[in-house]
Amino acid sequence: MKVTVIGVGYVGAVTGACLAFLGHRVICVDVDEGRIEKLRQGQSPIYEPGLEELIALAQERGEIAFDTDVATAVRDSEVVFIAVGTPSLPSGETNLAYLESAARTVGAAMEPGRFYVVVNKSTVPVGCGNLVEALVRDGVMQVRPADAANVNFAVASNPEFLREGSAIHDSLYPGRIVLGSPSGRAISTLRKLYQPLTEQSFAPPAFAPRPAEMGEVPIISTSLASAEMIKYSANAFLSLKIGFANEMANICERVGADVLEVMSGIGLDARIGSGFLNAGIGWGGSCFGKDVNSLLHTAAEYGYEARILEASLAVNRSQRSVVIQKLQEKLYILKGRTIALLGLAFKPDTDDLRDAPSIQIAERLLHMGARVRVFDPIAMEACRAQHPHLHLRYCADALSTADGADAVVLVTEWPEFADLDLARFALRMKRPVMIDGRNLFDPEKAVEAGFEYAGVGRPSRDARTSNAGPHRVPDAAHRAPMRSPLELQLTAKAAG
Ligand SMILES: NC(=O)c1ccc[n+]([C@@H]2O[C@H](COP(=O)([O-])OP(=O)(O)OC[C@H]3O[C@@H](n4cnc5c(N)ncnc54)[C@H](O)[C@@H]3O)[C@@H](O)[C@H]2O)c1
Repeated sequence: MKVTVIGVGYVGAVTGACLAFLGHRVICVDVDEGRIEKLRQGQSPIYEPGLEELIALAQERGEIAFDTDVATAVRDSEVVFIAVGTPSLPSGETNLAYLESAARTVGAAMEPGRFYVVVNKSTVPVGCGNLVEALVRDGVMQVRPADAANVNFAVASNPEFLREGSAIHDSLYPGRIVLGSPSGRAISTLRKLYQPLTEQSFAPPAFAPRPAEMGEVPIISTSLASAEMIKYSANAFLSLKIGFANEMANICERVGADVLEVMSGIGLDARIGSGFLNAGIGWGGSCFGKDVNSLLHTAAEYGYEARILEASLAVNRSQRSVVIQKLQEKLYILKGRTIALLGLAFKPDTDDLRDAPSIQIAERLLHMGARVRVFDPIAMEACRAQHPHLHLRYCADALSTADGADAVVLVTEWPEFADLDLARFALRMKRPVMIDGRNLFDPEKAVEAGFEYAGVGRPSRDARTSNAGPHRVPDAAHRAPMRSPLELQLTAKAAG
């Protein structure tokens, strides 16, 4: 099928590459000439593992082109995806300017006598499907007032659930595809478009093998409003789960329990599930904050006070100050201290710094008079470009952030940080204090390496020892190195 994807960010570039890889003829368009030029040269404009390889494969298996001319691309397409940004306004409301402009341009490009499906992949507040329809119609009227009745199109909502860092995997092997539209023709066109995905009939790329347990992908066909709400509800619930783990962590710290053990213990309950229960310094990224704020705003427009959502945002806000509190507990005074930050990206495997906790932490530390040394394997260039006001000392590697530091804060759990030689790191510091903001390290190993260690929701070694009475968990689990809830789950299964 002939497809246009408007917007080549994290969602659009991946969607375009996946659809072309599945055999469709795709044109990806963007107003950002720099991004389009990079893509034409086979380079990804964003850091997303596997994307460049997938674009190369897409060129072999299907057809993929990159352009800044929306009109030419749209004219010949059967399906037009809108995947432009929908950032927050200061009020929390969604900024729909990019969506509105894209929708009008799409309408202006459509020709009479054909049928187009305009698919909204951007995350937009409920009702935007109707808005897109009205704006596309405006675009049509602007260019073909006399012939507008012969321009046929239907609008659908197809929310995106990919995770940055594993976007290719998530797009090729999704848990579900949500299609919302009042038009049966639009739904059947999109079912056909996604058929290779739903039936998993494509040969997987070597760098993104099909998971062994992968079956057919369910399609959930809904109204426009439900599809739009599904996306917001999903993000609201996921951010709530992390917030819940953080709240439990704060209580665990006070009572001497270990939040990793507690979350593993509750995650094995199928009604709860083990994902997204990692306590730390709070979630960030381009989606959770803006989407929860937007949903709150929508609820308020309808006279409803969404108190769980408000609490979820408040818990996350205060969780970010946990790092500063822990540093103050260890160092008392932060003015004049040197703090090393390991990681800048809001999570591993991405260069995305939108709403990243690192930026807020660095700003607070600088404001309090500390000096800040940083290292991130991917996001340093983006940080320099997007936050030139932050006077950070960018280091060549993780180990050199340690030089002369009074404390180190693990901000992003990049896998390579887990392999750091902690003893060498500690030796290079002025004072070996570690705040492990993602509970990446085994506290006992960190202490053995010479650190004064503080994780999130984990008792100090002293507290654990003094608690080691008959009510403690069995020793083997106690001594085990830090394991993810999944690993614990597997161990539990293996143990029957
Ligand atoms: N990033 C994620 O992980 C993710 C996941 C699910 C859903 N979403 C949603 O998908 C949407 C896109 O997110 P993103 O992270 O890819 O954004 P992004 O900012 O990385 O990319 C958006 C792109 O749209 C382009 N653009 C803006 N207006 C345009 C126009 N009129 N015509 C053509 N191009 C235009 C921009 O130049 C930019 O390249 C958002 O609504 C977001 O909430 C994002």
